[in-house]
Amino acid sequence: MTTLSATRLAGRRILLGISAGIAAYKSAQLARLLKQAGCEVRVVMTEGAQAFITPLTLQALTGEPVRTSLLDPEAEAGMGHIELARWAETILIAPATADLMARLAQGMADDLLTTLCLASDAERLMAPAMNQAMWRHPATRRNAARLLHDGWRLLGPDSGDQACGDVGPGRMLEPEAIMAELIRPSAEAAHGQAAPAQDAPTQDAPAQGLHIVITAGPTREPLDPVRYLSNHSSGKMGFALAAAAAELGARVSLISGPVSLPTPEGVARIDVETALQMHEASRRLVGGCDIFVGCAAVADYRAEALAEHKIKKVEGEDALTLRLVKNPDIIADIANERDAAGGRPFVVGFAAETRDLEAYARDKLSRKRLDMIVANDVSSAGLGFGADDNAALLLWRDGEGEGGESLPPQPKTQLARAVIERALGCLSVRPVH
Ligand code: C5P
Repeated sequence: MTTLSATRLAGRRILLGISAGIAAYKSAQLARLLKQAGCEVRVVMTEGAQAFITPLTLQALTGEPVRTSLLDPEAEAGMGHIELARWAETILIAPATADLMARLAQGMADDLLTTLCLASDAERLMAPAMNQAMWRHPATRRNAARLLHDGWRLLGPDSGDQACGDVGPGRMLEPEAIMAELIRPSAEAAHGQAAPAQDAPTQDAPAQGLHIVITAGPTREPLDPVRYLSNHSSGKMGFALAAAAAELGARVSLISGPVSLPTPEGVARIDVETALQMHEASRRLVGGCDIFVGCAAVADYRAEALAEHKIKKVEGEDALTLRLVKNPDIIADIANERDAAGGRPFVVGFAAETRDLEAYARDKLSRKRLDMIVANDVSSAGLGFGADDNAALLLWRDGEGEGGESLPPQPKTQLARAVIERALGCLSVRPVH
């Protein structure tokens, strides 16, 4: 389930263009998210796109007929293509293939989608999706530059495993990330005019072009249909980190356990309940991510078997035995698993301790193969769990060796910025793993 701070999108008239990439199946989820955010959505598909996903699927999700052809007398008798071009406030193409990019860069109008783009002065965004060699090809680089010059915003692409078996840049951004880009204020988005491959960090936006994935909040491990195991994590620190990372210009994916906090502006939020769901979401998003921050208080154990019905009190028995099994260690898994290209994100973990803070933190840093650890003494009143303030000991390892810094008690929002800035600093001198 995904929620977004999407008030900026409510009522927006969005023309969703879908071209012929394998990522087209994700456009169904994107259409759903747009509808959930209150947008009016009309879908236009290229001929090739229909080989990957049917117009009927998109029609069912949007409640509107899907347009596929320029020369369709019946459709033109309803809303003609020029009317449709005027109707759109935003044109969002996802996925945008190399072929479509080439045609749009040339100003061609040889099908309905390209014609609409030429006939409209709406805001334009596209999420490219193609094989990594096609994305790297000088012709596509030229077309991308041309499109940026013509006022298109290019969202992504992501790096990672590709459907064809290659690894590299060219994966379509996940629908949640596209939504986050869509709600970024246009002034902020202006920084992101270039595709990530060309993004350059600036003083105001040192995280520009980076993808930061953050886990936050508790996990909830069900015992039976009405009971669960959990902890007191409020999610405040993880949400503050997400807000700070977005303010510093990063694209942020926030994987959150059950908390009652609003989603920070410009952040893509993925809601999960259990440690297994958080693990799955983390693994899905980690490809092509630059910094992974594990701030969630993940339950170490879950019930071995989920009772189908409510567990009953047994008369005459004073004790009940629950058998628990270990959950995966999400952050250790991310830190240990190098992707096929031999790289992995800069991994930041948290350690909440009540004694021997530094010794336990050092042990966790090396045992889990982290790059940085943020250690909190949770025994101090008014700090840590649920509080608005926190103090921390930061320990890290980067290209210049080991480092450490003690951050005094301060609001979590301020501390979050210091943590992200330190991680960015380490990333800039990080050796290849
Ligand atoms: O081992 P401990 O739980 O103290 O380690 C804390 C760090 O490990 C935090 O960064 C937390 O998010 C992460 N963690 C995890 N998966 C677990 C347990 C902890 O990612 N199952």
